[in-house]
Amino acid sequence: MLVFAAEGSPAPMGWKGGEGAVKRLMVQAREEGFTGKARQVAILRPEESDPARRVVLVGVGSLQGLNNESFRASAGEGSKAAANGVTRGISVLFPERGDALKIRRCAQAIVEGVMLAQYQYGAYRAPSAEVKKPLEHLVVLHGDDIPAKELSAGVAVGECVARATIMARDLVNEPPSSLNPAKLAEKAQKLGGRVRAKVFDAKWLDRTGMGGVAGVGKGSHVPPVFVWLHYQGSKPKAKVALVGKGVTFDAGGLDLKDAQGMETMKCDMAGAAAVMAVMHAADGLKLALTIDAYIPVVENMPGGGAIKPGDVLRMLSGKTVEVANTDAEGRLIVADALAYAVKDKPDHVIDVATLTGGAVVALGTRITGIMGTDQDLVAALVAAGEEAGEAMWQLPLVREYSELLKSRIADLKNTGGKREASTILGGLFLKEFTGTASWAHLDIAGTAYADKDLPYSPPGGTGVPVRSLIAYLMKLSG
Ligand code: BES
Ligand code: MN
Ligand code: ZN
Repeated sequence: MLVFAAEGSPAPMGWKGGEGAVKRLMVQAREEGFTGKARQVAILRPEESDPARRVVLVGVGSLQGLNNESFRASAGEGSKAAANGVTRGISVLFPERGDALKIRRCAQAIVEGVMLAQYQYGAYRAPSAEVKKPLEHLVVLHGDDIPAKELSAGVAVGECVARATIMARDLVNEPPSSLNPAKLAEKAQKLGGRVRAKVFDAKWLDRTGMGGVAGVGKGSHVPPVFVWLHYQGSKPKAKVALVGKGVTFDAGGLDLKDAQGMETMKCDMAGAAAVMAVMHAADGLKLALTIDAYIPVVENMPGGGAIKPGDVLRMLSGKTVEVANTDAEGRLIVADALAYAVKDKPDHVIDVATLTGGAVVALGTRITGIMGTDQDLVAALVAAGEEAGEAMWQLPLVREYSELLKSRIADLKNTGGKREASTILGGLFLKEFTGTASWAHLDIAGTAYADKDLPYSPPGGTGVPVRSLIAYLMKLSG
């Protein structure tokens, strides 16, 4: 059994058992040096007569700072100690009380923490001690003062959100030659439920005038595609467009990356993965929204047909772009998808892209960069991120910097040099293709992929920002 405890507070949260047992537990815990600080774990045996019954005590930190993320992270950490690879299920003692919303959100966070902490990408590994069997069930224990209906609702949402996050992680973790554009499109078509999918091929890209997507695709033997997903909820409250960067591998093109820069570039379709996963979850949660997802999918390779620095591409919007650097390919394909998305006049457009190395430099690996033309939309996404345990920080789309994107021979060029304000310039470039839409851009270059363990996230794809987007859409759906 997994039990939560706060720093500076002796009693386990939600515990209704006899006082004797609690005292014994806490004495043991103190002997183990347990203070309740965030994600601290102690393994205890409350009854000497039954050594098989283990209590895993996990700290949530101080009561003042307590939020959903405390429960998500501590549930994740605790569940790793509770599930030892042999047990097929664990139980957790529900720690929260209070109003319905609080209970739902807490249950959701706990389920997310447990399911996500158990995640392993095992597709290419033989079962071994390291590759654990996944947990099959999670039992939530609670007192009768907790409304079971709210608890179940939260558990169901948590399960759906965790599954979506895992879907995104799996897609990002899959090797790049296996998950090439054709394969990604196939997976999009298999999302199922009420999510409709349409895949457009390279000929369609040429015919339609998506010079950005078609251009970047020219350096690879595997042709580019454009995926359109549509989810129609009943009695929709709003129409939202999502755009996800789908570069299944970013070698840089002729401006080839170096070995270190290329090593993790299978992650460059994390935006596409997130958007696909969110569409799947929207269906699972029956959101009262209309959602369209537009996913341009390419390999950015330096093949003989590749676009060259100095080339000019005619984009879907009609604007021309001088290719200053073939490694700034994300904005070329996302720009076309944005131009396509805004034609349909959605209420809001959100794009998600591993766009710039500058985002890693500016904000590191735990904070997503966000920019946009609609401050209310940006604020709503930042708030959703906070609730979901996925931090975002807004960068300014400083108008003056647009100067740097001026070209002598085309309407604009795709970089303003490699380093200076590169994340903002990425945003400013995309803004040129959003017309008057309410638009936000999430640069997940730092957050989509981790090279080390994070709370409830092993190295590899993180699933960011799936949880934030779902939280935002749930709120919009009412
Ligand atoms: N996919 C990369 C950005 C990236 C970097 C994602 C690190 C994840 C981790 C993107 O296509 C890229 O290469 N951006 C260039 C742009 C530059 C040439 C203006 C960059 O940021 O260096
Ligand atoms: Mn690139
Ligand atoms: Zn890229």
